[in-house]
Amino acid sequence: MNITSDIKYIGVNDKKIDLFEGQYIVPNGMAYNSYCIIDEKIAVMDTVDINFTSEWLANLANALDGKSPDYLVVQHMEPDHSASIAHFANAYPEAKIVSSAKAFAMMKNFFGTDFPEKQIVVGEGSTLSLGKHNLTFVTAPMVHWPEVIVTYDSFDKVLFSADGFGKFGALDTEEDWACEARRYYIGIVGKYGMQVQSLLKKAAGLDIEIICPLHGPVLTENLGYYINLYDIWSSYRPEEEGVVIAYTSVYGNTAKAVSLLAEMLEAKGVKVALNDLARCDMAEAVEDAFRYDKLVLATTTYNADIFPFMKEFINHLTERNFQNRFVGFIENGSWAPMAAKVMKEMLSKSKNLTLAQNDVKITSALNAESEKQLSALAEELCGGVAVTLPEEAAAGGKKYVCKICGYIHEGELSEDFTCPLCKKPKEFFEELK
Ligand code: FEO
Repeated sequence: MNITSDIKYIGVNDKKIDLFEGQYIVPNGMAYNSYCIIDEKIAVMDTVDINFTSEWLANLANALDGKSPDYLVVQHMEPDHSASIAHFANAYPEAKIVSSAKAFAMMKNFFGTDFPEKQIVVGEGSTLSLGKHNLTFVTAPMVHWPEVIVTYDSFDKVLFSADGFGKFGALDTEEDWACEARRYYIGIVGKYGMQVQSLLKKAAGLDIEIICPLHGPVLTENLGYYINLYDIWSSYRPEEEGVVIAYTSVYGNTAKAVSLLAEMLEAKGVKVALNDLARCDMAEAVEDAFRYDKLVLATTTYNADIFPFMKEFINHLTERNFQNRFVGFIENGSWAPMAAKVMKEMLSKSKNLTLAQNDVKITSALNAESEKQLSALAEELCGGVAVTLPEEAAAGGKKYVCKICGYIHEGELSEDFTCPLCKKPKEFFEELK
């Protein structure tokens, strides 16, 4: 694949990977991008994951068409991009390796050598001329490791952006860019917003027509759209209005409360994202929390603390500098509810959070008092607009339980009823006697 007449794509798709970086599910696989710039001198931009070395070397040989590369530019030392460096060095012993001083120190750790006879050390503003193509290197520490450099080619106006502007998903997958780029960014680079802001400021001074990241598609059009999203994400501003409800529920009572809250909010036209933290993709829930402007945390008191999945979720938020949001709390506890207190303590160091004035305290199961608190929280989330509890919330009448997830519905099931938690139709419900 040609990016421009001189720049060729030589990356690979990984469709076998189960967990990217040992923790992120990637249902559509992953791409490890690499590029070859053919000029009077030839530069190769990064390598690929160790499982794809042979495929990548074949792609490179094909792009070279009998020529030999002069340089391997190593922008990032994480093994999804650097694992094939030694194989490249063996295949092309005359080629120099161009990278930051920190990257060469990492090479010694990974490979037992920092290739002293091949080294060209570059730093902020260093240049490398290939002929027509003049490469300028820009340091990008912590986007996503400390050694990272990005590279600007002034001839084709291309920014080789390392992990920046990357996404989950192999390149043969048709899917929305923002969804998987956001999950990737928040999960992997989210902690380093300040460093990404610094890189965006440097990039603003460059005339960029193409962005070549190390993951995901090459971006060639409407670059302002992608840069604007990166600016929002890295400055921790909400991307859109909506309420994320992240919850855990042991016996369905907390689930019932958040389901009622979601119904009340949706009835007022509020966008709601409901995440059962024990069952959803945690990275997706974390992504949602950074995407929307309001968050409700609902969990049970557990071992004088909070339920483990909620603890993990809040830790994911705080370690990624969660801030600038409105947060509401629902706690459940059968004898000594203290989950709201614990959750607030966990968020106490987060900057610029507005905490809801109306906490909801459930003592085992919803009752008239906690339903009233739930309505008050819903009203606060709607900016003071009055809300009413759904009719079926009223006590009495028939109850049905979902045989899949245990959700309990009070009142008759309409023909088009679907479980608000697991989305199964009414056929999956049975009446509780
Ligand atoms: Fe794609 Fe930070 O490695």
